[in-house]
Amino acid sequence: MPDATKQFDFLVLGSGIAGLTFALKVAERGRVAIITKKHRAESNTNYAQGGIAAVTSKEDSFEMHVRDTLEAGAGLCNPEVVRTIVQEGPARIAELIELGMRFSEREIPRANGARELDLGKEGGHSKRRILHAKDVTGREIERALLAAVAARTNIEIFENHFAIDLITSQKLGHEGHNRCLGVYVLRKDPQRVETFSAPIVLLATGGCGKVYLYTTNPDIATGDGVAMAHRAGAAVANMEFIQFHPTCLYHPKAKSFLISEAVRGEGGILKSLEGVEFTDRYHPLKSLAPRDIVARAIDSEMKRSGADHVLLDITHKPARFIIERFPNIYSTCLQFGVDITKEPIPVVPAAHYQCGGVLTNVDGETEIAGLYAVGEVACTGLHGANRLASNSLLEALVCAHRAAQKIASQTMPPVASKIPEWQSGNASNADELVVVSHNWDEIRRLMWDYVGIVRTNKRLQRALTRITNLQDEIQEYYWDSIVTSDLLELRNIATVAELIVRSALQRPESRGLNYNLDHPDANPEWAQRDTIIRKPLI
Ligand code: FAD
Ligand code: SIN
Repeated sequence: MPDATKQFDFLVLGSGIAGLTFALKVAERGRVAIITKKHRAESNTNYAQGGIAAVTSKEDSFEMHVRDTLEAGAGLCNPEVVRTIVQEGPARIAELIELGMRFSEREIPRANGARELDLGKEGGHSKRRILHAKDVTGREIERALLAAVAARTNIEIFENHFAIDLITSQKLGHEGHNRCLGVYVLRKDPQRVETFSAPIVLLATGGCGKVYLYTTNPDIATGDGVAMAHRAGAAVANMEFIQFHPTCLYHPKAKSFLISEAVRGEGGILKSLEGVEFTDRYHPLKSLAPRDIVARAIDSEMKRSGADHVLLDITHKPARFIIERFPNIYSTCLQFGVDITKEPIPVVPAAHYQCGGVLTNVDGETEIAGLYAVGEVACTGLHGANRLASNSLLEALVCAHRAAQKIASQTMPPVASKIPEWQSGNASNADELVVVSHNWDEIRRLMWDYVGIVRTNKRLQRALTRITNLQDEIQEYYWDSIVTSDLLELRNIATVAELIVRSALQRPESRGLNYNLDHPDANPEWAQRDTIIRKPLI
């Protein structure tokens, strides 16, 4: 093996809740490298607002949380996986608190100042069960986990390191079951590609919101993990189920700032521009119906009225309560000229969450030996056709723990193969910036226009034709050029866009988040059927 290869016992790709939780757990058994493409805290996790769903109150039960999850998932969840994750949630939450996570608390009435965890409510939940840190839960999770990681000497974080591709035994031409051996990584400073190897690799690279023009996700969310796993030959499932969050601040400069569903949980009401509540025409739970239904209701209301947004009104609540409970939303909206204690918030839906992903079991195992996937990048069967609000942080916590336990119960032989160094193209093309940014914009716009909240076969076909052409162009360019992170992200969003469209075309029905006017009803033959795509190995 060349000296240049960096060898570890565990490689963790991504430093959100999934990657950090896993790293802390396996660090007891070996040296861990966390590879993350920007600053260590930059992740979807860092922006999570509403909180983590888990049964912690006497008024709640596992049965109820399971039922709510299955109902939101529209018949496609794996009930066994749902039960496992719901039941193991409270123990993982207790560990997180032990580690230093500070959830919001409230005074227990008539209990001499004693306090308990404050529980929020969100769409589709029949009980208050969302643990939160005001409206900046994700920031507090990252703070607590990163502090715990910093205290461990055998975890090394490689910031500004971009995972390009997984190195597998089949790609190296070895016979037998495909095994993951490591990853090629583009480091930023100095800019060069390095080889990392380990017997166990965890994909914790998060979701793909940036595939769409309007998204709540930060710039890191370009679907790199799904694209890498697909290129490596792993199965990818249910990618048609992209969740659109109903309420993002509508403001030209706000870059899709999320207005948490917890605002509706505390009484916020969706209204038309005329100030009339409209969600009662779509679901008995009105503004707090499951997310797919609320997002479609807003889409349909906007199309019907020609308005470019709707309103979310919480002004009937006391200003002190709003400012105390939602300090980040209050101050951010105020920066954009909206005082949410006095006026309704202009909102629109935006792409938010990838319910599908790399196919795994509840222990994070993929079809490739030694490769695990946990968090938003994975498809465990928890979310089905529509994720219940605040179940994703829960899934990441539980599955990271289970993956670490699974690994502890197995022995993976060390990586003995000689891994060839990365071969790069030579061209440093002056056109690169314009080609990359043009194709990037085109993909995101066409996904928004043709593969959004409401789909048709014709629009999906049109999107597929265009994406396939763009893919050819990007591939040609890719092999000729010296790689850059912009080019790598472009290649990945194109791959993920294609997976989303192909999955949507494969499902001849409307279910949960996949709503197709050519098949407006659910087809019972497709209940419990995942859309699985495997790429023939090259
Ligand atoms: P992430 O937290 O996204 O982390 C991915 C990591 O991988 C990042 O560090 C990233 O830099 C790194 N990475 C990606 N690609 C590469 C690459 N090629 N090379 C190296 N590193 C890479 N869910 C809830 O349950 N409750 C909520 O309240 C909630 N609120 C949300 C609010 C917002 C605004 C958003 C965007 C999402 C919210 N979600 C919420 C969803 C939830 O935050 C995410 O699903 C979850 O945090 C994903 O965690 P993760 O660890 O899988 O991925
Ligand atoms: C929110 O706070 O509305 C986001 C919750 C989630 O995505 O689960």
